[in-house]
Amino acid sequence: MAKRKTQTVVRRQATNGSRPTPLKCWVCGSQLALWGDRLECPRRDSRLPAADGIFDLWPPGRRPPRLDTYATPFGAAYDFGVNRPALARVAARIEYGADVARMYEWMAEVLDCPPGRVVLDVPAGGGTLFSRGAPKLDGLLVGIDLSRAMLARAARRRRALGLEQHVLLVRGDAARLPVVTAGVDRVACFNGLHVIPDKGAALAEFRRVLKAGGELLGTTLVSDPPGFYRNVIGLARLAGFFVPPGADQVAGLAKRAGFERWEQKLDGALLYFRGQ
Ligand SMILES: C[S@@+](CC[C@H](N)C(=O)[O-])C[C@H]1O[C@@H](n2cnc3c(N)ncnc32)[C@H](O)[C@@H]1O
Ligand SMILES: [Zn+2]
Repeated sequence: MAKRKTQTVVRRQATNGSRPTPLKCWVCGSQLALWGDRLECPRRDSRLPAADGIFDLWPPGRRPPRLDTYATPFGAAYDFGVNRPALARVAARIEYGADVARMYEWMAEVLDCPPGRVVLDVPAGGGTLFSRGAPKLDGLLVGIDLSRAMLARAARRRRALGLEQHVLLVRGDAARLPVVTAGVDRVACFNGLHVIPDKGAALAEFRRVLKAGGELLGTTLVSDPPGFYRNVIGLARLAGFFVPPGADQVAGLAKRAGFERWEQKLDGALLYFRGQ
């Protein structure tokens, strides 16, 4: 019944040229619709054009970090590696003792998105989720990240893959998402919690924006892996922006955020998690 209702809304809006999105107007809280290449509030109090294919919905009054770490050569190197699974598998095995083959499988699972469904990818980075193609993405993927540099990389990949109709890219904050409550079917959070300082706020936001029964999937490096990898993580933490959580801390924060079902498994220093 609920599904049929959604389809009616989608059809009605499609006939007047707009497409619904789960994105939220910061002025009034209404759900924004896509009109051509701009977002519009139904109350007409905000109209937002995309700049280079990216919408800016950074929360008003919230100061972004002074340095966009991922706009530096470090970001370029990360983006180069993570978008080449063969290379990433070797690097992650050596650095973190993790087999990231499963991470790429989970990414493909998230992109199995039928028409009418919405997936949120936070942080989207350079579009790692869809960079190898997204043949089963028939619904909508909304990628949110704070880094303009990473979003520009994602926009280039989206264009190269012809995914403009299925991928929206938005500058925003994981800890205060520009997304309506219960607006998305799935949330992907790969390799994000270890660079997001307020993990509790991010997890609470993920739970808030998920529909009932919706699922969160992701990975994060942790501060307390066993053995040798604890030293590697300790060294990486000196970089300042790298703030990995403890594995138990993730489970505790997820519970506090309202996830009733939570599974997590440590592979080397990489924690795989999924929750509902
Ligand atoms: C390691 S990358 C992961 C990107 C992608 N999910 C992947 O697996 O390749 C981390 C990303 O988190 C973004 N980020 C850090 N803090 C954020 C925040 N508060 N809100 C949104 N994005 C954030 C960074 O800009 C960066 O692109
Ligand atoms: Zn509004």
